[in-house]
Amino acid sequence: MIRIAFAGKGGSGKSSISGTFARLLARRDRPVLAVDSDPLPGMAYSLGITVDDRPTPDDVVVEGPADGPRWVLRPGLDATTFIDTYAAAGPDRVRYLQFGNTWGHFSTLQRGQHAWSQVVREMDPTTWNLVGDLPGGTRQAMFGWAKYADVLALVVEPTAKSIHVARRLRNISKADWGPTDVVVVPNRVTHPDDVCRISEVLEEPVIGSVPEDPSVTDADKLALAPLDHSTGPFVDAIEQLVAVVESTYDSRDPAPTDGVA
Ligand SMILES: Nc1ncnc2c1ncn2[C@@H]1O[C@H](COP(=O)(O)OP(=O)(O)OP(=O)(O)O)[C@@H](O)[C@H]1O
Ligand SMILES: [Mg+2]
Repeated sequence: MIRIAFAGKGGSGKSSISGTFARLLARRDRPVLAVDSDPLPGMAYSLGITVDDRPTPDDVVVEGPADGPRWVLRPGLDATTFIDTYAAAGPDRVRYLQFGNTWGHFSTLQRGQHAWSQVVREMDPTTWNLVGDLPGGTRQAMFGWAKYADVLALVVEPTAKSIHVARRLRNISKADWGPTDVVVVPNRVTHPDDVCRISEVLEEPVIGSVPEDPSVTDADKLALAPLDHSTGPFVDAIEQLVAVVESTYDSRDPAPTDGVA
């Protein structure tokens, strides 16, 4: 199983990359759950899922115990059933679990968010390949919102501000709950020097290089997922990224032994 989350500065390309990555991974016959912890659902657009602003139904949770979370999944509703029932079905058989909708009153939002967190915490890690999209900045990542991920991919534009945010995010690897691997994905690259500058500062493995591709912004204007708009350098780069991640980071589960003990 591959469990990866994309983080980085706001606007660096996390949603475009994570949504496309999730679909291309699913095309390799893997069950993929796209895990969006940004309350504003950018990932849905890049997956090509119609954005649904309806809040998660109130009755998925009940009040939690005095010494526990404010809300917990109602008795009888476990993470698997929650995903079966409430995760949106997207193209290429990707399922999409969104953290919270911005519509609905405050208590509804809180309930939905508690449900999301519990589902991500308790889901069966052997069922799904997980591809996560974090909101911009360091807050969620540092507070452990991507604990499900073995690999944290820092999406970095070749700008001083984007590199600065990624440098702070690197510290997550020192947290005791941190991901096993922190890797760097340069985005909107227009010159080989861009990648050199990023890798010199960040000193983590650079596992790909995503070029500036006008068809990504064109897709945005048409409300299309990059994959549903055109193939081109962006999609090619994400395809390569998927191949690298598959070959390098899919080794957590025991390798098949061909019957040899
Ligand atoms: N490689 C690329 N080439 C051209 N445009 C790109 C590329 N990557 C991202 N973009 C554009 O940059 C903008 C921001 O991308 P995206 O929404 O994926 O970033 P984000 O990191 O998820 O942003 P946020 O922090 O707001 O969630 C979008 O308009 C997108 O089309
Ligand atoms: Mg986004």
